[in-house]
Formats: sequence, C-alpha cells, structure tokens
Amino acid sequence: MKRDIIILGIESSCDDTSAAISKNGNILANLVANQDVHSSYGGVVPELASRAHQQNILPVVDQAIKIANIEKGQIDAVAFTRGPGLLGSLLVGTSFSKAMAMGLDIPLIEVNHMQAHVMSHFILNKDIEVPGFPFLCLTVSGGHTEIVLVKDYLKMEVVGRTNDDAVGEAFDKAAKILNLPYPGGPLIDKHARSGNAAAYNFPKPKIPDLDYSFSGLKTAFLYFIRDQVKDSPTFIDDHLADICASYQKSLIETVLDKFLRAIAEYKVGHIGIAGGVAANSYLRERVAQIGKEKTLQVSIPKLEFCTDNAAMIAITGHHKFQKELFTDQTIGAQARYQMINEEQ
Ligand code: KG4
Ligand code: ZN
Repeated sequence: MKRDIIILGIESSCDDTSAAISKNGNILANLVANQDVHSSYGGVVPELASRAHQQNILPVVDQAIKIANIEKGQIDAVAFTRGPGLLGSLLVGTSFSKAMAMGLDIPLIEVNHMQAHVMSHFILNKDIEVPGFPFLCLTVSGGHTEIVLVKDYLKMEVVGRTNDDAVGEAFDKAAKILNLPYPGGPLIDKHARSGNAAAYNFPKPKIPDLDYSFSGLKTAFLYFIRDQVKDSPTFIDDHLADICASYQKSLIETVLDKFLRAIAEYKVGHIGIAGGVAANSYLRERVAQIGKEKTLQVSIPKLEFCTDNAAMIAITGHHKFQKELFTDQTIGAQARYQMINEEQ
C-alpha cells in the first residue's frame, strides 16, 4: 500500500501570510492571515508587510496543523514560496520554512509562486475535475499577467506576459482613482454588477504577439475621470457602477483577446484561469462561456485557491516531493524569479 504524503505549504510573497496542509493532493487546511494595515495606504507597504508576516506566521502554521488534525511529526516536507515577490516578505516564509524543515529533519521544497498559481488547478476535490494536458492557463494577479502553456504538472512555458503593469494592478490603481480602498479589484467587481458596461469606452492597447500592456489603459482612465470630475464634481459617486462595469469590461476583454489567440495557436482542449483576478465574476463568466462556445474543458479554481494561498504551495510541493525535487539549507528568497521547466 502506498503511504500518505503530507506537505506543509507556506506562502508569504506579498501581504498574505498563509499555511496549508495537503494529504495526497487533498487540502486538509488552508489558512490565510490578511493584512488590513495596507488598506489606508492604497497599496502594500513592504516594510509593514514583513513585520506583519513575522507576527502572523507562527500562529497561522500552528492553526493549520491543528485544523488538519495532524501531528507535526507526520509532515513529510515543508514547501515554501521562494519568489517572485517582496523580498522582505519572502524572507520571513523562507527562513521559517528552513528552520521548520531542519527542526523536523524533513526535506525542504522551494516553490515558484507563479507556477503554484497554475498548480492550484491540481488540488484534488471530488466536485472538480482537474485539467488534462496540455492546458492553457491565464494567470492574472496583482503582480503578474501571464499565459502559461502547461505540458505536465511541473512542465510549463510562459507564452505571453505583460510588459508593464499586471491586470490586478490596473484594477487596484483605478480603484484608488475612484477613492476605493486597497485592494480595489474586488470592489470594482462588486460595483460593476449593477452597472452598464457599455456606458463608457476605453482604448484597447495594441501590443504584438501574446503580450500585454496595461499602463496606457490606466492612464486613459485617470485622464477620463479627471476631465469628468472637472465638469461635474460628483461624477464618481453619481456613476460609480457604470464606470466600474465599463473599465472592468475593457480590462478583461483585453486579457481575453490574447488568451483567445493563444487557444487558437496552441490548439489545447483544456483552459483555466488562476491568480487573484481569477476571482473576478465577469472573467469567470466569460471564460465559462468561451469554454462552451469552443467545446473546451474549463477549469476555474475555488475562490480561496485563486487569491494568494498556501494550498497552491502545498500541492506544488506534493508533486515535487514525488519527484524528490528537494532543496538544501543554503537556499535564499528571490524577489525576481522566472518560472523554469522543472522537468525536461
Ligand atoms: O494573486 P493575488 O492574491 O496576489 C498577487 O500575487 O498579486 O492577486 C491579488 C490581486 C489584486 O490586484 C486584487 O485587486 C485582485 O487580485 N483581485 C480582483 C478580484 N479579487 C482579487 N480583481 C478583480 N476582481 C476581483 N473579484
Ligand atoms: Zn499571487
């Protein structure tokens, strides 16, 4: 009989401190401590994020072990986010994981955060079918916008990416212009539900290949609001839902234009979305619709596995554990960290 594989996953790349326990690819516990401290600053303050990680990490890991109802001694390996992300934040999770693995005398597994977002599709769940290979994943988060061709669990290739801002950033910066607190993406989504997406038009960026650029769209939005408010000081309050719906549609349709091109180019049968912006209700709806129209299998992770979480780190660790892809105690955090093919 095959023995159980239990992995402790730790994520601390940005402003969420998270710990998860996986058992044979199922998630027994996934805890996230959010950091409210950033909301009034309109963005993540790196120094404050590191400090909050330091306060949160021990209770979060402790609680995850309790909820999973396991003993520390049952953990087979510690998987942690090495990068990309904020260096001070990554250092907390990296140091903690190294100490934990050393203390328990178990293997240490480094995980690329972007690869982990894609791997969230492979968390086992009786209600959701995991995608087959090859599949094309649109990873959209606060730090990244990527189209990833997934050939196997640990074999991925980025075929399109943003040249500047990430789509999540474009949501958050627009929200700031609208005086909404950080992170504004979920609030734009919420207000957009009662708005008319055809009320305003924003220009679509023209970028070659499968790449993206969102800085122009963000600037166009800033000038549009500035001009409207000049004419009517209550413009934002009077038209918030329509503004959110129109801007959201521009952003998501821009993202989908390239994704549709990639689907045609790589002729995949399976598509999926990952990352924080995958929680966006309009994007989820549109991707499901595209799947239906093109008879593709669509995989959309549960909301808790879209935004930053340690369950995706644990599942990546689970697959690396089986291939014995371990790292040693000399490993360090890496703020800029390209996703590489783990297997040739
Ligand atoms: O993956 P994530 O939790 O962290 C990063 O790795 O960046 O993504 C966070 C991003 C933020 O920009 C946030 O505004 C955005 O995801 N986000 C959303 C929604 N939920 C989170 N954007 C649009 N609609 C949402 N419902
Ligand atoms: Zn992320």
